[in-house]
Amino acid sequence: MRDVEKPLVCLAVALPDDALAGLADACELRPVAADTIASHIAEAEGLLCPAPFPVPAALLDLAPRLRVVSNFGVGFNNVDLAEMNRRGIAVCNTPGVLTDAVADLTVGMIVAASRGLVANANYVRERRWGREPVPGLGWDLRGKTLGLIGFGRIGKAVAHRARAFGMNTCFFDLFDSPGAGWDDCVYQALDALLREADVVSVHTNLTPETFHLLGEREFAQMKPSAWVINTSRGPVIDQAALTNALRERRIAGAVLDVLETEPPPADDPILTLENAVILPHIGSATVETRAAMLDLSIRNLKAVLAGEPPPECVNPEALPRALQRR
Ligand code: DGY
Repeated sequence: MRDVEKPLVCLAVALPDDALAGLADACELRPVAADTIASHIAEAEGLLCPAPFPVPAALLDLAPRLRVVSNFGVGFNNVDLAEMNRRGIAVCNTPGVLTDAVADLTVGMIVAASRGLVANANYVRERRWGREPVPGLGWDLRGKTLGLIGFGRIGKAVAHRARAFGMNTCFFDLFDSPGAGWDDCVYQALDALLREADVVSVHTNLTPETFHLLGEREFAQMKPSAWVINTSRGPVIDQAALTNALRERRIAGAVLDVLETEPPPADDPILTLENAVILPHIGSATVETRAAMLDLSIRNLKAVLAGEPPPECVNPEALPRALQRR
Protein backbone atom coordinates (compact mmCIF):
# COMPACT_ATOMS: atom_id res chain seq x y z
CA MET A 1 0.00 0.00 0.00
CA ARG A 2 1.23 3.50 -0.84
CA ASP A 3 1.46 6.20 1.81
CA VAL A 4 -0.54 8.77 -0.14
CA GLU A 5 0.62 11.53 2.23
CA LYS A 6 4.08 11.23 0.77
CA PRO A 7 4.79 12.03 -2.89
CA LEU A 8 6.13 9.14 -4.90
CA VAL A 9 9.62 9.68 -6.34
CA CYS A 10 11.29 7.51 -8.96
CA LEU A 11 14.94 7.20 -8.07
CA ALA A 12 17.44 6.46 -10.84
CA VAL A 13 20.51 7.41 -8.79
CA ALA A 14 22.14 5.06 -6.25
CA LEU A 15 22.10 6.95 -2.96
CA PRO A 16 24.23 6.42 0.16
CA ASP A 17 22.21 5.35 3.22
CA ASP A 18 22.14 8.77 4.91
CA ALA A 19 20.83 10.51 1.78
CA LEU A 20 18.32 7.72 1.28
CA ALA A 21 17.05 8.09 4.85
CA GLY A 22 16.77 11.87 4.49
CA LEU A 23 14.76 11.52 1.31
CA ALA A 24 12.58 8.69 2.60
CA ASP A 25 11.34 11.02 5.37
CA ALA A 26 9.73 13.24 2.76
CA CYS A 27 8.95 10.89 -0.14
CA GLU A 28 8.07 7.35 -1.00
CA LEU A 29 10.94 6.07 -3.12
CA ARG A 30 10.82 3.70 -6.07
CA PRO A 31 14.26 2.69 -7.44
CA VAL A 32 14.12 2.60 -11.25
CA ALA A 33 16.37 2.17 -14.27
CA ALA A 34 15.87 3.37 -17.84
CA ASP A 35 14.24 0.06 -18.79
CA THR A 36 11.95 -0.21 -15.73
CA ILE A 37 10.80 3.35 -15.10
CA ALA A 38 7.76 3.07 -17.38
CA SER A 39 6.10 0.64 -14.95
CA HIS A 40 6.59 2.95 -11.93
CA ILE A 41 6.10 6.48 -13.23
CA ALA A 42 2.27 6.63 -13.31
CA GLU A 43 1.90 7.87 -9.72
CA ALA A 44 5.26 9.62 -9.46
CA GLU A 45 5.48 13.33 -8.67
CA GLY A 46 9.27 13.44 -8.82
CA LEU A 47 12.17 11.84 -10.65
CA LEU A 48 15.76 12.03 -9.40
CA CYS A 49 18.08 10.89 -12.18
CA PRO A 50 21.59 11.25 -13.60
CA ALA A 51 21.85 14.12 -16.09
CA PRO A 52 22.09 11.77 -19.11
CA PHE A 53 18.94 9.74 -18.10
CA PRO A 54 16.51 9.98 -21.04
CA VAL A 55 13.08 11.47 -20.27
CA PRO A 56 11.24 11.29 -23.60
CA ALA A 57 7.73 12.63 -24.23
CA ALA A 58 6.44 9.02 -24.41
CA LEU A 59 7.51 8.54 -20.78
CA LEU A 60 5.88 11.83 -19.76
CA ASP A 61 2.62 10.61 -21.32
CA LEU A 62 2.65 7.86 -18.64
CA ALA A 63 3.33 10.37 -15.85
CA PRO A 64 0.38 12.73 -15.40
CA ARG A 65 1.36 13.61 -11.81
CA LEU A 66 5.04 14.36 -12.48
CA ARG A 67 6.07 17.82 -11.19
CA VAL A 68 9.85 17.73 -11.07
CA VAL A 69 12.76 16.08 -12.83
CA SER A 70 15.79 16.69 -10.65
CA ASN A 71 18.95 16.01 -12.58
CA PHE A 72 22.03 14.82 -10.72
CA GLY A 73 24.32 16.89 -12.96
CA VAL A 74 24.47 20.23 -14.69
CA GLY A 75 23.40 19.06 -18.17
CA PHE A 76 19.71 18.94 -19.08
CA ASN A 77 19.77 17.71 -22.67
CA ASN A 78 18.00 14.56 -21.41
CA VAL A 79 14.71 16.50 -21.43
CA ASP A 80 12.83 18.53 -24.00
CA LEU A 81 12.38 21.84 -22.17
CA ALA A 82 9.49 23.03 -24.36
CA GLU A 83 7.67 19.80 -23.56
CA MET A 84 8.38 20.19 -19.83
CA ASN A 85 7.08 23.75 -19.89
CA ARG A 86 3.94 22.67 -21.72
CA ARG A 87 3.30 20.07 -19.03
CA GLY A 88 4.29 22.29 -16.08
CA ILE A 89 7.17 20.08 -14.96
CA ALA A 90 10.17 21.76 -13.30
CA VAL A 91 13.63 20.71 -14.48
CA CYS A 92 16.35 21.17 -11.88
CA ASN A 93 20.11 20.70 -12.17
CA THR A 94 23.33 21.18 -10.22
CA PRO A 95 25.31 24.06 -11.72
CA GLY A 96 28.24 25.64 -9.90
CA VAL A 97 29.15 22.78 -7.59
CA LEU A 98 30.95 20.83 -10.32
CA THR A 99 32.65 23.71 -12.11
CA ASP A 100 36.06 23.24 -10.48
CA ALA A 101 36.08 19.47 -10.89
CA VAL A 102 35.32 19.67 -14.61
CA ALA A 103 37.79 22.53 -15.15
CA ASP A 104 40.51 20.64 -13.26
CA LEU A 105 39.95 17.57 -15.40
CA THR A 106 40.00 19.66 -18.58
CA VAL A 107 43.40 21.06 -17.66
CA GLY A 108 44.59 17.54 -16.88
CA MET A 109 43.42 16.45 -20.32
CA ILE A 110 45.29 19.34 -21.96
CA VAL A 111 48.46 18.43 -20.05
CA ALA A 112 47.92 14.77 -21.01
CA ALA A 113 47.76 15.87 -24.66
CA SER A 114 50.81 18.10 -24.49
CA ARG A 115 53.05 15.56 -22.73
CA GLY A 116 51.73 12.29 -24.16
CA LEU A 117 50.91 11.04 -20.64
CA VAL A 118 48.92 8.02 -21.76
CA ALA A 119 51.40 6.95 -24.46
CA ASN A 120 54.33 7.38 -22.08
CA ALA A 121 52.63 5.46 -19.26
CA ASN A 122 51.72 2.65 -21.67
CA TYR A 123 55.32 2.57 -22.91
CA VAL A 124 56.53 1.85 -19.39
CA ARG A 125 53.68 -0.56 -18.55
CA GLU A 126 54.39 -2.54 -21.72
CA ARG A 127 58.07 -2.91 -20.65
CA ARG A 128 59.30 -1.04 -23.73
CA TRP A 129 61.50 1.37 -21.70
CA GLY A 130 65.13 0.48 -22.45
CA ARG A 131 64.21 -1.60 -25.48
CA GLU A 132 62.80 1.16 -27.70
CA PRO A 133 63.29 4.92 -27.90
CA VAL A 134 60.88 6.87 -25.69
CA PRO A 135 57.77 8.28 -27.40
CA GLY A 136 58.43 11.69 -29.07
CA LEU A 137 58.77 15.04 -27.33
CA GLY A 138 55.78 16.96 -26.05
CA TRP A 139 55.02 20.65 -26.43
CA ASP A 140 54.90 23.58 -24.01
CA LEU A 141 51.60 25.12 -22.98
CA ARG A 142 53.15 28.57 -22.45
CA GLY A 143 52.41 30.78 -25.43
CA LYS A 144 49.93 28.34 -27.01
CA THR A 145 46.36 29.41 -27.73
CA LEU A 146 43.42 27.73 -26.04
CA GLY A 147 40.13 28.22 -27.93
CA LEU A 148 37.13 27.75 -25.66
CA ILE A 149 33.82 26.89 -27.26
CA GLY A 150 31.33 27.95 -24.62
CA PHE A 151 32.32 30.62 -22.09
CA GLY A 152 29.99 29.93 -19.18
CA ARG A 153 31.05 28.90 -15.69
CA ILE A 154 33.17 25.96 -16.77
CA GLY A 155 34.72 27.65 -19.83
CA LYS A 156 35.74 30.57 -17.61
CA ALA A 157 37.17 28.28 -14.92
CA VAL A 158 39.29 26.57 -17.59
CA ALA A 159 40.44 29.97 -18.94
CA HIS A 160 41.40 30.99 -15.40
CA ARG A 161 43.56 27.90 -15.01
CA ALA A 162 45.06 28.28 -18.50
CA ARG A 163 46.33 31.74 -17.52
CA ALA A 164 48.47 30.11 -14.84
CA PHE A 165 50.07 27.94 -17.53
CA GLY A 166 50.88 31.02 -19.67
CA MET A 167 48.40 30.09 -22.38
CA ASN A 168 46.60 32.69 -24.51
CA THR A 169 42.86 32.23 -24.51
CA CYS A 170 39.99 33.10 -26.83
CA PHE A 171 36.36 32.03 -26.82
CA PHE A 172 33.32 31.51 -29.01
CA ASP A 173 29.81 31.73 -27.55
CA LEU A 174 26.38 33.17 -28.27
CA PHE A 175 27.56 36.42 -26.66
CA ASP A 176 30.71 38.23 -27.72
CA SER A 177 31.58 40.14 -24.57
CA PRO A 178 33.53 38.00 -22.09
CA GLY A 179 32.52 40.09 -19.05
CA ALA A 180 34.50 41.95 -16.40
CA GLY A 181 37.98 40.67 -15.69
CA TRP A 182 38.36 38.81 -18.97
CA ASP A 183 40.08 41.42 -21.15
CA ASP A 184 42.77 38.90 -22.05
CA CYS A 185 40.23 36.37 -23.38
CA VAL A 186 39.00 37.64 -26.72
CA TYR A 187 35.87 36.70 -28.60
CA GLN A 188 36.48 34.98 -31.94
CA ALA A 189 34.00 33.83 -34.55
CA LEU A 190 34.05 30.03 -34.60
CA ASP A 191 36.10 29.69 -37.81
CA ALA A 192 38.70 32.21 -36.63
CA LEU A 193 39.00 30.41 -33.29
CA LEU A 194 39.46 27.07 -35.03
CA ARG A 195 42.18 28.47 -37.29
CA GLU A 196 44.06 30.07 -34.40
CA ALA A 197 43.79 27.59 -31.53
CA ASP A 198 46.40 25.02 -30.60
CA VAL A 199 43.87 23.43 -28.30
CA VAL A 200 40.10 23.62 -28.85
CA SER A 201 38.11 22.80 -25.71
CA VAL A 202 34.34 22.32 -25.77
CA HIS A 203 32.24 23.66 -22.85
CA THR A 204 28.85 24.33 -24.37
CA ASN A 205 25.46 22.81 -23.56
CA LEU A 206 24.08 20.30 -26.01
CA THR A 207 21.12 21.95 -27.77
CA PRO A 208 19.71 21.62 -31.29
CA GLU A 209 21.98 24.58 -32.20
CA THR A 210 25.17 22.98 -30.84
CA PHE A 211 24.51 19.45 -32.13
CA HIS A 212 27.52 18.55 -34.37
CA LEU A 213 28.87 22.08 -33.99
CA LEU A 214 32.28 20.60 -34.83
CA GLY A 215 32.28 18.43 -37.94
CA GLU A 216 34.18 17.81 -41.17
CA ARG A 217 34.15 21.48 -42.20
CA GLU A 218 35.33 22.67 -38.80
CA PHE A 219 38.15 20.10 -38.47
CA ALA A 220 39.36 21.24 -41.90
CA GLN A 221 39.93 24.74 -40.46
CA MET A 222 42.11 23.54 -37.59
CA LYS A 223 45.91 23.38 -37.50
CA PRO A 224 47.33 19.90 -38.17
CA SER A 225 49.07 20.25 -34.78
CA ALA A 226 45.85 21.09 -32.89
CA TRP A 227 44.10 19.00 -30.25
CA VAL A 228 40.40 18.76 -29.42
CA ILE A 229 39.25 18.39 -25.81
CA ASN A 230 35.64 17.64 -24.89
CA THR A 231 34.20 17.47 -21.37
CA SER A 232 30.70 18.70 -22.26
CA ARG A 233 28.49 16.39 -24.33
CA GLY A 234 29.58 13.96 -27.05
CA PRO A 235 27.07 14.99 -29.74
CA VAL A 236 28.46 18.56 -29.86
CA ILE A 237 31.13 16.86 -31.99
CA ASP A 238 30.35 14.81 -35.10
CA GLN A 239 32.30 11.80 -33.89
CA ALA A 240 32.52 10.07 -37.27
CA ALA A 241 34.06 13.24 -38.74
CA LEU A 242 36.44 13.52 -35.79
CA THR A 243 37.44 9.89 -36.16
CA ASN A 244 38.32 10.49 -39.83
CA ALA A 245 40.23 13.68 -39.09
CA LEU A 246 42.25 11.89 -36.39
CA ARG A 247 42.85 8.79 -38.46
CA GLU A 248 44.11 10.87 -41.38
CA ARG A 249 46.15 13.04 -38.99
CA ARG A 250 44.43 16.18 -40.28
CA ILE A 251 44.47 17.21 -36.62
CA ALA A 252 46.94 15.95 -34.02
CA GLY A 253 44.71 14.38 -31.41
CA ALA A 254 41.69 14.41 -29.13
CA VAL A 255 41.12 13.83 -25.44
CA LEU A 256 37.44 13.12 -24.84
CA ASP A 257 35.54 12.60 -21.59
CA VAL A 258 32.26 12.27 -23.50
CA LEU A 259 31.20 10.40 -26.63
CA GLU A 260 28.16 10.39 -28.88
CA THR A 261 27.16 6.99 -27.47
CA GLU A 262 28.03 6.19 -23.86
CA PRO A 263 29.30 3.65 -23.16
CA PRO A 264 30.66 3.29 -26.70
CA PRO A 265 30.01 0.12 -28.70
CA ALA A 266 32.98 -2.25 -28.49
CA ASP A 267 33.68 -1.77 -32.19
CA ASP A 268 33.61 2.04 -32.10
CA PRO A 269 36.58 2.94 -34.35
CA ILE A 270 37.58 5.92 -32.20
CA LEU A 271 38.66 3.45 -29.50
CA THR A 272 41.37 2.08 -31.80
CA LEU A 273 43.08 5.38 -32.58
CA GLU A 274 46.43 6.07 -30.93
CA ASN A 275 45.85 9.82 -31.04
CA ALA A 276 42.49 9.62 -29.22
CA VAL A 277 42.45 9.35 -25.44
CA ILE A 278 39.00 8.47 -24.14
CA LEU A 279 37.80 8.81 -20.53
CA PRO A 280 34.52 7.35 -19.18
CA HIS A 281 32.62 10.63 -18.49
CA ILE A 282 34.37 11.46 -15.21
CA GLY A 283 34.20 15.27 -15.33
CA SER A 284 32.42 15.59 -11.99
CA ALA A 285 33.65 12.32 -10.50
CA THR A 286 35.32 13.36 -7.27
CA VAL A 287 34.12 12.48 -3.78
CA GLU A 288 33.54 16.11 -2.80
CA THR A 289 31.87 17.18 -6.02
CA ARG A 290 29.56 14.20 -6.26
CA ALA A 291 28.49 14.78 -2.63
CA ALA A 292 27.73 18.44 -3.37
CA MET A 293 25.80 17.48 -6.52
CA LEU A 294 23.77 14.94 -4.60
CA ASP A 295 22.96 17.43 -1.88
CA LEU A 296 21.83 20.06 -4.40
CA SER A 297 19.80 17.63 -6.50
CA ILE A 298 18.00 16.39 -3.37
CA ARG A 299 17.33 19.94 -2.16
CA ASN A 300 15.93 20.81 -5.60
CA LEU A 301 13.65 17.78 -5.57
CA LYS A 302 12.39 18.27 -2.01
CA ALA A 303 11.74 21.98 -2.53
CA VAL A 304 9.47 21.46 -5.54
CA LEU A 305 7.62 18.61 -3.87
CA ALA A 306 7.09 20.83 -0.81
CA GLY A 307 5.67 23.56 -3.04
CA GLU A 308 8.69 25.85 -2.67
CA PRO A 309 10.99 27.33 -5.35
CA PRO A 310 14.05 25.09 -5.69
CA PRO A 311 17.61 26.45 -5.42
CA GLU A 312 18.26 25.68 -9.12
CA CYS A 313 15.70 25.41 -11.87
CA VAL A 314 16.37 25.67 -15.62
CA ASN A 315 12.75 26.41 -16.55
CA PRO A 316 11.33 28.79 -13.91
CA GLU A 317 8.39 29.44 -16.24
CA ALA A 318 7.11 25.95 -15.34
CA LEU A 319 7.34 26.54 -11.58
CA PRO A 320 3.91 28.05 -10.88
CA ARG A 321 2.27 24.82 -12.07
CA ALA A 322 4.99 22.47 -10.79
CA LEU A 323 4.71 23.77 -7.24
CA GLN A 324 1.05 22.79 -6.94
CA ARG A 325 0.32 19.21 -5.94
CA ARG A 326 -2.00 17.59 -8.45
C1 DGY B 1 26.77 16.76 -15.85
O1 DGY B 1 26.81 17.27 -14.76
O2 DGY B 1 25.95 17.08 -16.72
C2 DGY B 1 27.76 15.68 -16.10
O3 DGY B 1 28.15 15.63 -17.41
C3 DGY B 1 27.19 14.37 -15.67
O4 DGY B 1 26.31 13.94 -16.63
